[in-house]
Amino acid sequence: MSLRGRHILVGISGGIAAYKIPELIRMLIRQGAEVRVTTTRNALQFVTETTLQTLSGAPVYSDVFAAINQHATEHISLPEWADLMIVAPATANSLSKFAYGIADDALSTTFCSCLARKPILVAPAMNDKMWESPATQRAIDLLRGYERVTLIEPAEGPLACGTSGKGRMPEPEELLEEVISALTPKTLLGRHVLLTAGPTVERLDPVRYLSNFSTGKMGFALARECLRRGAEVTLVSGPTAETILGHSDRLHLVPVGSAREMCEAAEADFPRADLAILCAAVADYRPAEIASEKIKKQPDSQALSLSLVENPDIAARLGEQKREGQILVGFALETEHEQQNAMQKMARKRLDYIVLNSLRTPGAGFATDTNCVTIFSSDGAKKDCPLAQKQTVAQQILDTIFI
Ligand code: PMT
Repeated sequence: MSLRGRHILVGISGGIAAYKIPELIRMLIRQGAEVRVTTTRNALQFVTETTLQTLSGAPVYSDVFAAINQHATEHISLPEWADLMIVAPATANSLSKFAYGIADDALSTTFCSCLARKPILVAPAMNDKMWESPATQRAIDLLRGYERVTLIEPAEGPLACGTSGKGRMPEPEELLEEVISALTPKTLLGRHVLLTAGPTVERLDPVRYLSNFSTGKMGFALARECLRRGAEVTLVSGPTAETILGHSDRLHLVPVGSAREMCEAAEADFPRADLAILCAAVADYRPAEIASEKIKKQPDSQALSLSLVENPDIAARLGEQKREGQILVGFALETEHEQQNAMQKMARKRLDYIVLNSLRTPGAGFATDTNCVTIFSSDGAKKDCPLAQKQTVAQQILDTIFI
């Protein structure tokens, strides 16, 4: 989901992590959102009003009695305008005010009037001693009890005062993911999704392996979208540089290497899955033997032959185990006779849907940020998804499966 046309109200209180918020504002705007900013007076010690105003393209609401305020009721009109409010960083002082309804400045009055109406994300950030304080923890408990408030737990790590502990505000990328997730309808709440992603690696000797060009981008985009829609996700992934920010309570990441490891992990999870999407590029064959020592160059430039044996077909095995109500989706990566090959794979592996991508389409397939796919269903329906970001393609795939 993009944030096109969405109204995001950013609240900033006076902590050092405020210096990261201009980057969050830029990211929100890049995603298509309109942004307004409200701050405490102290927040402006850490980030200037000019910066916030320039990036958001709107006046900053920081002083209840400033002459610039149109009607002196911005604390009412801003929450009315907003689809969502995010307060980051939220200091110990602001958290306590929010929890008890103390409304004595621009940020706390705005928070108070937003509380009954709009979703609010709160990202506390402070020194670990301030975080552990019973007063802060009591405020946190109270805030957890408010229906519209979602707390974004501070992370552990180095703190501005030079110590290390719990109290770090998550990075702007993670805050952005929280915003997108909070605004995504929870159409997969209570569902369990099994996903495979990335390549498999088949070891040849202690220094070499057979693999392919999959980066995991498509599979991770699907996992991210399922998480945003509220699903619990098991993501069985071959080696990849991809990551998923946030959602740690509903994401079970199972890193694997070989096709056999991927098969074992997928079969273990499949019984509880409502939906399984098999996006991994699995090696069909592996070396018959893994050499215990590095394979040496052959004498006299003789050719070296490798003996390969077949790997388990994970999709076909899950197809055999599929029970009533489970949905099984495969991918097909083709270079010729695309549709014909995809339809045969769907039938042979007992898939409910197959997502075809072709290496003949520029911008589709391995390692790109974009993809172009056609989704076939076993009942004969077909949907073309034009070239788009893999995150958008992931949305279209899920929209097609759950019409
Ligand atoms: O990771 P990226 O760089 O973003 O690239 C994405 C992708 C190109 C890898 C992805 O979009 C894709 O097409 N994945 C499937 C690639 C593939 O191996 O296709 P296939 O036609 O060989 O396999 C058909 C289906 O059977 C797939 O769902 C595959 O996961 C599954 N399979 C294949 C072989 C095997 N031994 N076990 C399987 O489960």
